[in-house]
Amino acid sequence: MCSGNNSFRAVITGKGGVGKTTLTACLAAALAGNGITTLAVDEDPQMNLPYAMGLPVERARAIVPLNLNRDYVEEKTGARPGASGWGALFKLNPDVDDVVARYGVTVADRMNLLVMGTVKQAGGGCLCAENVLLDSVVRHLALRENEGILLDTQAGVEHFGRALSRGFSHCLVVTDATFNALTVACSSADLARQIGIPKVCLVLNRAADGAEARLDRFRQETGTDVKDRFDGVVAMPFEPRLAELEPDVTRIMSRPDSGYAAAVRSLAAALTARTCSCSTPVLEIRS
Ligand SMILES: Nc1ncnc2c1ncn2[C@@H]1O[C@H](COP(=O)(O)OP(=O)(O)O)[C@@H](O)[C@H]1O
Ligand SMILES: [Mg+2]
Repeated sequence: MCSGNNSFRAVITGKGGVGKTTLTACLAAALAGNGITTLAVDEDPQMNLPYAMGLPVERARAIVPLNLNRDYVEEKTGARPGASGWGALFKLNPDVDDVVARYGVTVADRMNLLVMGTVKQAGGGCLCAENVLLDSVVRHLALRENEGILLDTQAGVEHFGRALSRGFSHCLVVTDATFNALTVACSSADLARQIGIPKVCLVLNRAADGAEARLDRFRQETGTDVKDRFDGVVAMPFEPRLAELEPDVTRIMSRPDSGYAAAVRSLAAALTARTCSCSTPVLEIRS
C-alpha cells in the first residue's frame, strides 16, 4: 500500500521509559525543519508530550484532553461521554475535520499538538462515544501533502487492542537492546501487522556500540532475526544532553554534533519518503 503523496500517519509504541515521547517531540521538530506540518497526538494519560515539544508550563497545564471535552464529544457523536451499551446510539464516523482548529495547540511553526486523553476500559474494546471520537480523530483526519500525524501512545500494547492506529502508514516500535524489550518489540510488530500497518520499523534507542551484535545474540538465543520482523531498523545513540535539556527535548535538534538528532532526521526523511518500497527495508542500522 503506497501513498501517492508524502503524508504519513505514524504510531509510536513500546515499553514505558524507552524514549517514545522524546522521539515523537524530536521527530515533530525535524519534520517541521523539512517543511512538514505535524500533528503530534498525545494518547498517554501522563501528558508528557506538551512539555517535551517545548510548550510553556502555563499553556500545557491549561490543556483539557479531548475526551474530557464533554460538549465536543456530544456534538460530534450525538452521545454524552460515558454512554455505551445497547441504549447508546452515536455516529460511528463523526466528522472531525475541525478538531485541530478547535482543540489543537500550535507549539511552534508547523508543530501542532492534540492531547487526546485515554478512555479506560476493562477487557476488550469499549465502544463508547469517547473512543469512537478519538479513533475517528486519528484515523479519519484528512491529511494533505506535507502533513502527517505522530501518535505517541502510553506504555504497552493496549492501544493495538482498540485498533486505534488502524489505517496508519507506519508503526515505530521503540525499544532498548535488552532481550525482554526485543521480545516485546517483536510482539508489537505482529500486532501492528495484524491491524494492517504496512511499514513497521524498530527504533533501537540508547544504542551503545554493538547494537548489531545485540541483535545477533538475540537471533542466536531465539531463532528470531529482528531485522526480518521489521521493515527497517534504526539505532538511536545515547544522548546525555537530553537530561539537561528536558523537558523541551526538541532543543537537541539544533545541536549539529548530536548523533541522536542525526538519527531522528533520517527517520523523519524515511517517514516522508515518497518512493514505493514496501517490501524493502527503508532504514539501516546506524550505531
Ligand atoms: N537516546 C537517548 N539517550 C539518552 N536519554 C534518552 C534517550 N531517549 C530518551 N531518553 C530519556 O529517557 C527518559 C524516558 O524517555 P521518554 O521519552 O519519556 O520515554 P517514554 O515516552 O517511552 O516513556 C527521559 O528522561 C528521556 O530524556
Ligand atoms: Mg511517554
